[in-house]
Amino acid sequence: MPVRVYSPTPPNLRRLAVALRHGELVAIPTETVYGLAANALDARACRAIFRAKGRPANDPLIVHVLDLAHAEKLAEFNAEARKLARQFWPGPLTLVLPKKPSVPGIVTSGSPTVAIRAPAHPLARRLLRLAGIPLAAPSANLFGYISPTTADHVVAGLGRRILHVLDGGTCQIGVESTIVDLTDPAKPRILRPGAITAGQLQKVLGVPVGRLTRRKAAADPLAPGMMARHYSPRTPLVLREPVAKPARKIAAVFLRKPAGQTAPNIFWLSRRGALAEVARNLYGVLRQADASGFAQIQVEPLPADAGGLAAAINDRLHRAAAKV
Ligand code: TXA
Ligand code: MG
Repeated sequence: MPVRVYSPTPPNLRRLAVALRHGELVAIPTETVYGLAANALDARACRAIFRAKGRPANDPLIVHVLDLAHAEKLAEFNAEARKLARQFWPGPLTLVLPKKPSVPGIVTSGSPTVAIRAPAHPLARRLLRLAGIPLAAPSANLFGYISPTTADHVVAGLGRRILHVLDGGTCQIGVESTIVDLTDPAKPRILRPGAITAGQLQKVLGVPVGRLTRRKAAADPLAPGMMARHYSPRTPLVLREPVAKPARKIAAVFLRKPAGQTAPNIFWLSRRGALAEVARNLYGVLRQADASGFAQIQVEPLPADAGGLAAAINDRLHRAAAKV
């Protein structure tokens, strides 16, 4: 059966909620990236997620819920985790906490902890409400490739492997959620930077928030999905200031629209350099450059002190540029 892309009408949402309850996979929009969702309480359905993505079994899934009350049925919350959930949910923040027995081991790759978040996207929330089950959902891309931020991206990667895609347009944030490990509430650690920054977390928690660096992550069994190479185009990607008129075989990706010249190998991530726009366009532009047969993609690096979304954007760019 061919994949079907559903517009978000009430009958379609009801139908997709039923499919989820029956253990089928549905790609859904969230405010960060599209997720490949299945009933998080159904081990068989979750196994199908790993199969469809070609994802190794040691890379755990994020569980999506409506709110804190639903999350507390699946994870052992502490006071700090509650504070963060109250402040930032629904939104792009994933909390890693000790799991409760109701969460199947396949979701957490056998880890005693579970990653959990309440997405803000209205369609994700409507589906969660209609289905009445928690949804395990990693990004809806083939393992290792660039995450999808449109329904077309999902179809391009998984179109032959899944049946249902809910079309919610372009994801507003464009990079994956911030993941915070709160298993030791005295020592919160960011496992993956996202739209919620270390500064924002620190302000709510009142203690310094650590950061798992890419180098440390490579050796850390707690963060199997934090491997160096990830989010990668097939075309070799390098982070360097592109020249104004690159050779035809080279794709040049600028942070802002260059003045004057345009050419098929000139790309830009924003009109004037606004970070929210850069994040929103990042994966779409990288996919476009990757699909055009270039020998190399050169991406202009962000200034290190740019703040806000810069940590997340730089993290993804460094991973996209990492050698195997
Ligand atoms: O914004 C997002 O987080 C998107 C949308 C769909 O919600 N999801 C997403 O999932 O990006 P993805 O493909 O990155 O997979 C979840 C990642 C894993 O690679 C792993 O690194 C981390 O979450 N993770 C999941 N469970 C974990 C756990 N128990 N401990 C540490 N890390 C965990
Ligand atoms: Mg992913």
